[in-house]
Amino acid sequence: MPKMMISVRALVFLGLCHAGWRSLASGPELRDPPKRIAVIGAGIGGTATAYFLRQEFGAAVKIDVFEPGTVGGRLATQNIGGHEYETGGAVIHPLNLHMKHFLDRLGLSQRTDVPGKMAIFDGKEIIFEESDWFIVNFLRLLWRYGFNFLRMQMWVESVLDKFMRIYQYQQFGYSFTSVEKLLHAMGGDSFLTLSNQTLEEAMLGEGFSQSFLNEVVAPITRVNYGQSVRISGFAGAVALAGADSGLWAVDGGNKKVCSGLLYHSKVDLIQARVTAVSVKQRQSKAGTTASLYEVNYVGDSGSAHSLYDIVFVATPLHQGKSDVAFSGFSPPIPSQYPGRYLQTVTTLVHGRLNVSYLGTSEKPSAFSVSEVLTTDAKGSVINSLSSIDPVHVPPGYSRPPASVDKVWKVFSPQPLSQQQLRAMFLSWDSTSEVKWQAYPSYSAPSRAAPPFILHDRLYYLSPVEWAASAMEMSAISARNLALLAHHRWHYQPGRMDQEDLHTRLRGEL
Ligand SMILES: Cc1cc2nc3c(=O)[nH]c(=O)nc-3n(C[C@H](O)[C@H](O)[C@H](O)COP(=O)(O)OP(=O)(O)OC[C@H]3O[C@@H](n4cnc5c(N)ncnc54)[C@H](O)[C@@H]3O)c2cc1C
Ligand SMILES: *[C@@H]1O[C@H](CO)[C@@H](O)[C@H](O)[C@H]1NC(C)=O
Ligand SMILES: *[C@@H]1O[C@H](CO)[C@@H](O)[C@H](O)[C@H]1NC(C)=O
Repeated sequence: MPKMMISVRALVFLGLCHAGWRSLASGPELRDPPKRIAVIGAGIGGTATAYFLRQEFGAAVKIDVFEPGTVGGRLATQNIGGHEYETGGAVIHPLNLHMKHFLDRLGLSQRTDVPGKMAIFDGKEIIFEESDWFIVNFLRLLWRYGFNFLRMQMWVESVLDKFMRIYQYQQFGYSFTSVEKLLHAMGGDSFLTLSNQTLEEAMLGEGFSQSFLNEVVAPITRVNYGQSVRISGFAGAVALAGADSGLWAVDGGNKKVCSGLLYHSKVDLIQARVTAVSVKQRQSKAGTTASLYEVNYVGDSGSAHSLYDIVFVATPLHQGKSDVAFSGFSPPIPSQYPGRYLQTVTTLVHGRLNVSYLGTSEKPSAFSVSEVLTTDAKGSVINSLSSIDPVHVPPGYSRPPASVDKVWKVFSPQPLSQQQLRAMFLSWDSTSEVKWQAYPSYSAPSRAAPPFILHDRLYYLSPVEWAASAMEMSAISARNLALLAHHRWHYQPGRMDQEDLHTRLRGEL
């Protein structure tokens, strides 16, 4: 990676901590700030929204966050033998600057890294296994795939360079009214083209070989999105970045960021499920009519409703994900948008692996692979198999070999049967299963993402997931919508959907 890119990124990152910039750029405040804001959902998207709303609208506004389940949403842990393990979103890219910023602000730290090795399994045998030696890996890859591997890293790097522009735009307070405009501001027409092609088309077009796609790229899209190389090119690039080096997780569990953001932003967490949002007209003392949103919800103490100036929906409005009725809106707002979320089942097994399942003759005590990815082979029941460490790595911890009982994580499209478990494991003393409606089922050309703006002051966070689903994507969307809500509240169109920002802001760094 060129040194210069690092320093520009470092500057952008410093900028994130330097709040002065944006406030200097702020225009005149023409209106009283809003009094009450609701956020529906307390995953990383909703909690980051609360954080950025507090930053944009100040200390006086009352922010209510609705969540019927555990704070964290798709960031969740499971206890096994007194230790917690991640079952949902697990790893974060080193250049995910919002997630890094949250850690700094909340006084959290990164989990101690336990180095591991990766292998690729084709359903019969291991076709590639990482060695401890960088040069050995390099030569093996070169032997098998020529320069495809290096070129893939450069390709992902070039996408990432454009992706990083969003941090500078947001630092200067710019926001976008649709996913397409946001993507276009980052990567121009090349990002829209990438969303309109499959990853396979995009990479074949760049000269990558089909065997490289089948044996290296597909295992990565399978572990990250449970899907083949026919996902859209943009989601594919994000999946490939999710196989970079330097990935990290939060010490104590990723969901600690969510609870930390709620606490830090001084919001009221309402443990209830929102059932309906409707628009109500209200006569003010001055005789003008203003519309407010009524949020209806059901919690342990029955059902209730409250009125808000601004509402953010921070849960996907799709079948199997949530069921909120929107009434009184014209044009009507659907409870569920077209497009399906894909099931990925996380199974945690505390037991002993049958290494022969992987077709290897290595001794279990010598088998030190921690991450087994799989090719898109017919009849393959698993997407991946990994040996995982607890969310807090105790001092002196080293990952146990495959010859002893330890915690394995399996991703599969369907729940594993007892018979399938018996084929993989010699023995186990506990298993636990989470069935996620995990991420969108991606296709290309991408379906049009739902709108960010559902109504005047009713915003929707999750459309970015149709570009790519990741914690950082939700955080980027959260900041975008907090800015957008602020600019629309104060009539500042100059910082919405601006064209050619990249060139205009170049002189600013
Ligand atoms: C198995 C798996 C592995 C993953 N791995 C990674 C990874 O390694 N790295 C990465 O970056 N990303 C990963 N992801 C994706 C990442 O977890 C998600 O993109 C991210 O967590 C989405 O956050 P969110 O806040 O937008 O949505 P969610 O986390 O889904 O939050 C929505 C919240 O809204 C709540 N809600 C729903 N309906 C209502 C209602 N009616 N009223 C009130 N609240 C409601 C839900 O209970 C939920 O808590 C993974 C996802 C899965 C499932
Ligand atoms: C896809 O292509 C269509 C037309 O070919 C274009 O209008 C659109 O902006 C492109 N991008 C996305 C993300 O849909
Ligand atoms: C381990 O897996 C191999 C290969 O699938 C199988 O032949 C063998 O019976 C399994 N061992 C046990 C003890 O189940």
